[in-house]
Amino acid sequence: MQIAFSSVAQADDVLVFPIEKDGIDRAQWGVAEIADLAPLAAKASTFKGDAGSTLEVFVPGNGKVGRVVLLGVGSGSETDWRKAGGALTAKLLTQASSASVHLNALATAPSLDAVTAFAGAAVQRAWRYDVYRTKLPETSRPTLTRIAIVGAAAEAEAAYAAIHAVNGGLELTRTLVSEPPNKLYPESFVERVLNDVEGLGLEVTVLDEAQMRDLGMGALLGVSQGSVREGRLLVLKWNGGAADAPTLALVGKGVTFDTGGISIKPAAGMEDMKWDMGGAGAVAGAMKAIATRKAKANVVGVMGLVENMPDGNAQRPGDVVTSMSGQTIEVINTDAEGRLVLCDALTWVQKTHSPSTIVDLATLTGAMIISLGHEHGGLFANDDSLAESLLAAGKATDEKLWRFPLSDAYDKLIDSQIADMKNVGPRGGGSITAAQFLKRYINDGVAWAHLDIAGMVWSDKPGVNHDKGATGYGVRLLDRFVADRFEA
Ligand code: BES
Ligand code: MN
Ligand code: ZN
Repeated sequence: MQIAFSSVAQADDVLVFPIEKDGIDRAQWGVAEIADLAPLAAKASTFKGDAGSTLEVFVPGNGKVGRVVLLGVGSGSETDWRKAGGALTAKLLTQASSASVHLNALATAPSLDAVTAFAGAAVQRAWRYDVYRTKLPETSRPTLTRIAIVGAAAEAEAAYAAIHAVNGGLELTRTLVSEPPNKLYPESFVERVLNDVEGLGLEVTVLDEAQMRDLGMGALLGVSQGSVREGRLLVLKWNGGAADAPTLALVGKGVTFDTGGISIKPAAGMEDMKWDMGGAGAVAGAMKAIATRKAKANVVGVMGLVENMPDGNAQRPGDVVTSMSGQTIEVINTDAEGRLVLCDALTWVQKTHSPSTIVDLATLTGAMIISLGHEHGGLFANDDSLAESLLAAGKATDEKLWRFPLSDAYDKLIDSQIADMKNVGPRGGGSITAAQFLKRYINDGVAWAHLDIAGMVWSDKPGVNHDKGATGYGVRLLDRFVADRFEA
């Protein structure tokens, strides 16, 4: 779907009038027939202008009936305009081919950020993945191809270009997360991402299992050894900042399918574990976004890609593996595999790129869903200022985070009898002990944050800017974080 900016009204299927909360009497309708009918229709219904609410009104004139949608924009905040953009698309996606949104109907003009958030969410909400459907009924096919925004400030179109870049990254992430696990495995993940980011100027490194073995990545390889699919480490580097500017590392868990391994998961719901690569998916999408908009920052994205399978060659509970850092790990539970993949990716990126800051993203623990449900991602950090920046970026993009504690008392819980650490702690505080595990791989002086996004990458119901399914969580958050902390 396309966004067009114009100064005058176009001949679109649907005319859309944004209405602030309780603002129906302040609206500037422009057309007499609409001015006569729309306020009465609103009063005859429950429409008050709440963000994301809609009221469709059919207005006669010129021997035809025009379709008018009143679209609630609530308080006029960026968040409320985002809700309105998503709601408009959700309403019209299969019901109209084009719509024009009349900003000049409002008594007070929306901010530039509000307009771009609106347009961004409208496009994001239109994304769906129908490639495996051969029998999609006519009535559920998307028809909406264009939303024209009439009367936006002159700078809106340029500001929207950055959102457009982010949407390209978001689409990549959602595609990767949606793909079934027989199609998306470590090698095909690499292939798809490289095809998608070709020509953007990203520096690419791909490590295969032999190379990872030479580097001593025994933790990642221990997970991968039960699968007939080979693991990979995919690295994308964007050098958009000054040569001496600090490097940000984004590190993602990319378990393309998590059966649990020998500590196998129950059958019910196991299909969800196709999206256990959502952290790596978000890193791929964020790297695409920042390269597309040519961010003035140095960022390296590292994706640890493996499939966790039970097999005659799979690792056993009780195995001890040696990570690239040299630290040894007793594998108590083969289903706590994400941290085993991430620890080697974290060591590798610190050895090869010396980042000042690391943010890792992972669908790491089911316990995170018990804690926060599907409203916030969990944030863990060894640096308060980094944590604040991430919390702020989360608020600004409505990809919210909630901070959890780290401490030596939690760290002790993963001490092992036989090795330097074990890969699981006791039942309580499972998300925190997972984070403590990762922290053991962070060098002194490196600012590090871990985002446990287990509850966020997939949604069983439609949300503001997504349908059911892959949300693309993390891409907009990371893009904003890069812009605010590394480009400002
Ligand atoms: N990928 C899962 C975490 C997960 C579970 C994400 C459900 C989303 C939904 C992870 O690899 C895992 O299995 N974690 C275990 C850890 C446990 C063995 C300590 C878990 O959460 O049960
Ligand atoms: Mn697991
Ligand atoms: Zn997992």
